[in-house]
Amino acid sequence: MKGLGAIVMAAGLGKRMRSKLAKVLHPVAGRPMVLYAVELAERLTGEGVAVVVGYQGEQVQAVIESHRAAMTRRTGYDKGQAPPIMFVQQEQQLGTGHAVMQARAAFARAHGGPADAYVILNGDTPLLTDATVQDLLRLHEDEHATVTMLTAILKDPTGYGRVVRHKEDERVLRIVEDRDATPAELRLREINAGTYVVNGSFLFEALDKLEPQNVQKEYYLTDIVGLAVERGLKVAAMVARDAEECLGINSRQQLAVAEQVVRRQIRTRWMQAGVTLHDPDTTWIDAEVDIGRDTVLYPHVTLEGRTTVGEDCVIRSHTRITDSVLGHRVMVQDCCVIREARLEENTTVGPFAHLRPGSVVRRAAKVGNFVEMKKADLGEESKANHLSYLGDARIGKGVNIGSGTITCNYDGFRKHETVIEDEVFVGSDAQLIAPVTVGRGAVVAAGSTLTQDVPPDALAIGRAPQVNRPGWAARRRALQAAGTSPDNGRMANPVAPRPKPLAARGAKAKKRRKK
Ligand code: UD1
Ligand code: CA
Repeated sequence: MKGLGAIVMAAGLGKRMRSKLAKVLHPVAGRPMVLYAVELAERLTGEGVAVVVGYQGEQVQAVIESHRAAMTRRTGYDKGQAPPIMFVQQEQQLGTGHAVMQARAAFARAHGGPADAYVILNGDTPLLTDATVQDLLRLHEDEHATVTMLTAILKDPTGYGRVVRHKEDERVLRIVEDRDATPAELRLREINAGTYVVNGSFLFEALDKLEPQNVQKEYYLTDIVGLAVERGLKVAAMVARDAEECLGINSRQQLAVAEQVVRRQIRTRWMQAGVTLHDPDTTWIDAEVDIGRDTVLYPHVTLEGRTTVGEDCVIRSHTRITDSVLGHRVMVQDCCVIREARLEENTTVGPFAHLRPGSVVRRAAKVGNFVEMKKADLGEESKANHLSYLGDARIGKGVNIGSGTITCNYDGFRKHETVIEDEVFVGSDAQLIAPVTVGRGAVVAAGSTLTQDVPPDALAIGRAPQVNRPGWAARRRALQAAGTSPDNGRMANPVAPRPKPLAARGAKAKKRRKK
């Protein structure tokens, strides 16, 4: 259609949600509800999209703008190609008619007047598909209608506006809101979906005539239907083939229904695209996740936010991955939590690994069980297989991080960096007190506490020397067996010997040593 504008209504509070958050910001499959309507509008129109914001308007606007920016970055899609979004303020939420009215000036400013027609969408109807709205637009043209509306037949129409039709010829006469309806009207099962196509020449002029004469004292957009009929203008209605698409979200129950539907659609889409889901019902995939072919997801896997998973990956049960990038052939074992991390191809992670923001696991590196990483870069083919904390660390290629290694990155005031260069071997249970650098090819002895840099190819040992006391344990057992408690302190609570003061190392000691 030529000259098609779009208006998305997103200014309401959403009282029935009983929430501190504006209704349209509640996520459905991990993305704010309003984005479904805004993106649909963007795909449909060439003349621009007006989004009416009001309650928590700044947040709503910020969410939409940051989403657009992210999509531009991710897809390389040129912002210039997308129709501009005009944010329109509705200071007081006086009803849907009042909301749409606010868009008039924006279109006048941007396009020098109204578009030929407008598609108007509720911001709380995330299941609506492009195909349905395109059918609606086609019907509008074919019927030369002034107003075309989408309707649905519901088993339980409670809460929706009802479509009142002529008794004989079944023409649409008007819409009556749930709260204003008579008992007979309440029994009508055809509802208004809140999706309309309206001619530009009629829309704003009709809105001017609205009166808030109803239970809610609001300006109802729906009243333009009755107005058009009164003037003998054509009103067309299309009954949605799939009533589910028309679900409007007013309550948490409806939000839960939408969530289930969208998640099911997402799972189906990925299976069709060549991803194996061993147990679809327990697999959670957010709307903006991307998954490569032949990747296998085990039961109870959660992929959230803007996560990208490559091809031929395997993700085992109870793992949650958020806003992360996985290359091809990545293996994530059971029970991992991964957020804002990057796992390059052929890496292996888990079970029970925790990769926090800024973690990078480079090609063919391995992160094993009970390893936590944060702002840490583990180089190609390096391994941190067991029980470690690697925070604020740059680790080179071919490094072995021994079991229990800890980067002590925090001194109580600031974070400091640990650098471990290529081919270093860190023995088990080492503590690296940052800032510290271990030079290329060095070896850190197990149990060491490093407080100084280690030169390349050196051995660093930083631990107390060992003392063996021959026969000590046997003597203690003997005391116990004789019923004598080893309570002289020494045997109950052994202490490591200290080097004797120099004075004590007299002639006798020298003699003994000579022997
Ligand atoms: C609306 C329709 C109803 C229809 C239903 C479909 C009206 C009067 N009623 O009712 O016939 O069956 O949708 O889901 O239109 N909004 C604003 N500013 C306002 C009021 C609302 O921007 O002053 C926005 C809301 O944020 C929401 C949308 O408009 O996105 C619909 O508002 P809502 O209060 O949910 O309308 P319903 O009562 O569901
Ligand atoms: Ca609604």
